[in-house]
Amino acid sequence: MSPNNTSTETMTLFSPQLAARLDALVEKYPLRRSALVPMLLYAQDEVGYLSDAVVAEVAWRIGITELEVRNVATYYSMLRFKPAGKYNVQVCTNISCMLRGGYELYERFQEELGIGHKGVTPDGVFSLEEVECIGACCWAPAIQVNYEFLDELNPDQVPGILADYRAKAAAEERSSHA
Ligand code: FES
Repeated sequence: MSPNNTSTETMTLFSPQLAARLDALVEKYPLRRSALVPMLLYAQDEVGYLSDAVVAEVAWRIGITELEVRNVATYYSMLRFKPAGKYNVQVCTNISCMLRGGYELYERFQEELGIGHKGVTPDGVFSLEEVECIGACCWAPAIQVNYEFLDELNPDQVPGILADYRAKAAAEERSSHA
């Protein structure tokens, strides 16, 4: 029986919406394995990282081994095997950003958060990554926080940026307990 023809509603670790999306995804490509990277990205968005269970289910859905999934996933820096913070701060230090203070910006984030590359703050609110070009070179130096871009930054803006995200995290926490 092909993986996407089984009753994934009862077997999947994903939400019904994501499971349906992944079922549809594999049908779009002539080769099932072409759906691997988008499938991993959607799964990571929902679960937060590529846990062993996620890797196992994606392997099953595509019809390849878990090792093959891992071999592909380790190639892509945006895919991760450990949980990130609620807000994943990616600071570009590639050439345009480097020339316009990207490293100073990255150092300030490290100082303010007390973590380094791929670190997660103890409260789980932030993780930090130094990354290659994020496609905002014209507005360097730039960062990406989850799917939000912030650009033309200077290090003195870092505390305010973090305070805004902390406030957002606290508000979400409060509303989830309301
Ligand atoms: S070099 Fe930083 S966004 Fe392109």
